[in-house]
Amino acid sequence: MKHRRPAKPNSRIVDEEGREEFFATSRVKSRSFKFKRRHQRWPAIATVLSLIPCLLFIRNLITTNRESELSPFPPNWWDVQNQASLLLRCPQPQHAPKWNCYNDLVDENSDTVDRAKRLFEYDPNDNRSKEEHRFDDRIPHLLIFTHKYNIFDCSVTASNSTSPNMYTLAENAKATVKAYSRIWPDLHFVYLSDNDCIDALNRTEPGLIPFFNDVKLEGMFKADLCRVAYLCLHGGYYFDVDLLVVRPFTAPKNSTFVTVKGEGSPGGSDFRGFFQAFLAAEKDHAIVRLSLRMMLETLSGKRPSSSGLYLGPGSLMEAWMEVQNITDFSNTKNDDYDTYLLKEINLNDQLQVSMYKNLSDVLMSETGSDLLQRVPGDHEDDCKLSTGSWNVCNFAVLDEGDGSIYFYSRVLGTTYCGVCVEKRPKR
Ligand SMILES: *[C@@H]1O[C@H](CO)[C@@H](O)[C@H](O)[C@H]1NC(C)=O
Ligand SMILES: *[C@@H]1O[C@H](CO)[C@@H](O)[C@H](O)[C@H]1NC(C)=O
Ligand SMILES: *[C@@H]1O[C@H](CO)[C@@H](O)[C@H](O)[C@H]1NC(C)=O
Ligand SMILES: *[C@@H]1O[C@H](CO)[C@@H](O)[C@H](O)[C@H]1NC(C)=O
Ligand SMILES: *[C@@H]1O[C@H](CO)[C@@H](O)[C@H](O)[C@H]1NC(C)=O
Ligand SMILES: *[C@@H]1O[C@H](CO)[C@@H](O)[C@H](O)[C@H]1NC(C)=O
Repeated sequence: MKHRRPAKPNSRIVDEEGREEFFATSRVKSRSFKFKRRHQRWPAIATVLSLIPCLLFIRNLITTNRESELSPFPPNWWDVQNQASLLLRCPQPQHAPKWNCYNDLVDENSDTVDRAKRLFEYDPNDNRSKEEHRFDDRIPHLLIFTHKYNIFDCSVTASNSTSPNMYTLAENAKATVKAYSRIWPDLHFVYLSDNDCIDALNRTEPGLIPFFNDVKLEGMFKADLCRVAYLCLHGGYYFDVDLLVVRPFTAPKNSTFVTVKGEGSPGGSDFRGFFQAFLAAEKDHAIVRLSLRMMLETLSGKRPSSSGLYLGPGSLMEAWMEVQNITDFSNTKNDDYDTYLLKEINLNDQLQVSMYKNLSDVLMSETGSDLLQRVPGDHEDDCKLSTGSWNVCNFAVLDEGDGSIYFYSRVLGTTYCGVCVEKRPKR
């Protein structure tokens, strides 16, 4: 499997996006200006010299304006044009055969995406999603990721002291950024550390900080709190690091909130509310804000946690229903709201699949099995890949509007979907 280098490889890693490039550009301009004048006579040089203070003043003015334009971006936002180096594949540690397993998983995930695109006959050169690229979108072109460790730092992911599983997840998050960078040239992305999450909570619902800091709170619940707080502050597109993007989904025109109805049917025992591994919202959206408050009320025991619903997925769905004034969830249509809901389905569940004609046609075709995720063969000496007792491979996110698949719910290499679990004893 080939791995394309991003369009503009750049070895610099700058924190303050855009600024360095701007200064570089203005330096180049003044250099060529001097060059032209060198061939003229002294009076001309004197005139130019006398103009320098004035030019400097104007340049300062421009610089100041440019800086104030950029200032709303927090310093940890990366600009995909200037920080393309962050998206290069990390080297795997040497002398660590087990890592070949993880490389295989990364390659297999990208093959899965290619196969799915072929089956749905997406034009490979059509880099747009379902809508034309627009600059007036209400949801900012910012991709948001969170993880305990900085997944965009190769020295972290390639370290043998941390979970090598993170390598697969990190490469997946980069693939997500690359997929969206093909449709949005103005794309930014951000990694949120625990401190960034605490800061976002502090600015939105500080009462949640003690719960976030509680060592007993599982990582996935921390991520529940963090994504919602950050979306409240800035808006953007949040992705779980294990969500596999087949085709970038962009919010339809005028939509201010997009997420996914969880697999199963409301009321069913397997239903867990919204599948918020993908959650896009405008800044300070009423549903997002209410969901954050509901989580605080749930965690502090003031609100009964809905039976069977997890913290984030449950509160997000309930907040959506409350804001939209919906009591019966089963009969809602996207057209009726300025929110848009995708649908998670289990590709191995014939009943679920049968409800979508195009999808069942694809799955029943000769090459239909190409749509399914494939756990690579075990590495004899390295590791055994397992999906464990609860197989969550082949859950996918579909747009009921166009009947096609946008995401797989989980990449290979995650718990319950092809994770590397043990070293095989040598025979
Ligand atoms: C779409 O993206 C691919 C890969 O980045 C690139 O080769 C191709 O030229 C792009 N197509 C268009 C129409 O921009
Ligand atoms: C990490 O790798 C280095 C060099 O490859 C090795 O010396 C060290 O023992 C390894 N550490 C662990 C915890 O595996
Ligand atoms: C929350 O913000 C306030 C005001 O900026 C600051 O004084 C406080 O230290 C912050 N708390 C945390 C936990 O970051
Ligand atoms: C989007 O909103 C604008 C302004 O409210 C409206 O004129 C337009 O018809 C809407 N477009 C769609 C597709 O709903
Ligand atoms: C909510 O919907 C109910 C009927 O389902 C209606 O009676 C009520 O007026 C609605 N409330 C608001 C605020 O729209
Ligand atoms: C199903 O696929 C056909 C052919 O690819 C396409 O024209 C049609 O729009 C699709 N149906 C839906 C509901 O998207």
